Amino acid sequence: MDVSKLMFREGLMDGERILVTGGGTGLGREMAEGFLKLGATVYICGRRQNKLDETARELMDAHGGKMVAHACDIRDADAIHTMIDAIWTDGGALTGVVNNAAGNFVSRTQDLSVNAFNAISDIVFRGTFYVTLDIGKRLIAEGKKASFLSILTTWVWSGSAFVVPSAMSKTAINAMTQSLAAEWGRYGLRFNAIAPGLFPTKGMSARLSPGGQGDNSNSDLNPMGRAGKMHEIANLAVFLMGPGAEYVNGQTIAIDGAGYQANGGTFYSKFQALGDEEWDGLRAMIKGTNAKDKADRST
Ligand code: HXC
Repeated sequence: MDVSKLMFREGLMDGERILVTGGGTGLGREMAEGFLKLGATVYICGRRQNKLDETARELMDAHGGKMVAHACDIRDADAIHTMIDAIWTDGGALTGVVNNAAGNFVSRTQDLSVNAFNAISDIVFRGTFYVTLDIGKRLIAEGKKASFLSILTTWVWSGSAFVVPSAMSKTAINAMTQSLAAEWGRYGLRFNAIAPGLFPTKGMSARLSPGGQGDNSNSDLNPMGRAGKMHEIANLAVFLMGPGAEYVNGQTIAIDGAGYQANGGTFYSKFQALGDEEWDGLRAMIKGTNAKDKADRST
């Protein structure tokens, strides 16, 4: 990310302590970089310790500050509890949590197994709630304030063909955002969400555009004529996580160049014409990526 395009003053996030799930790669890494650059202590978690360590090292080399990497699969509530214990021991309560970790792949719904549905919903739906619950309980018990931010998509308003487990799970997290904003607002805990349009990342492209059909940016269909830039999402995340806008609570804000208004922001038109053979090809490519990532996690 071009950090010179961050809109905020140096030191804005001094004293903040923020966990970014899935912070080793993709959008999580970009937001984590923004928080670190502006002075926050940042904790990142994900499933690949080597990748997390690399990210923490690179970003601290570039910006100084403190970033701590924890290998933690958010599908495992006990592993989350252990990680959050370690974070609290390291310096006390978190002041912010970014629920960014996700899993997704395109598929016709009739081609999914129960395991495939669970692979996605256990991360996005259950895992996000486990993280929020574990941290929320501690903050309420200690009377500490914090900001929670979940990374969703505009499918929470429209649904989306060919990514049904993700659309269902993220819609549930949108409901969590609105519900807890009301229920836990009294404790000084606020809940917002970002619905990004296309911000091409490696993990997303490999699973939502395997083989690189098109340029992944939908740029010809987007009113702005381009995909999102990383500093744009980082700026929105800092606005929602940093001090100064605490009255914003219970909102899900799209950052998609009005792609949603212009073309619905879903995968329907891109995939609706594909036949059996094409889906077989996509599935093989996606499973190749999944297997490679899995092998990486065991190293
Ligand atoms: C059908 C598939 C499949 C496919 C996997 N499966 N890929 N079924 N079509 N293309 C099935 C497998 O056969 C298996 O079911 C089950 O799913 C679990 O597969 P695993 O590979 O064992 O899963 P796991 O290692 O747990 O991996 C989780 C994952 C993976 C979600 C499948 O993609 C992942 O880890 N992703 C993390 C990164 C990521 O997805 N980034 C993109 C996020 S984009 P069986 O029945 O055979 O056992 C995003 C929103 C973008 O979130 C919004 C853009 C606007």
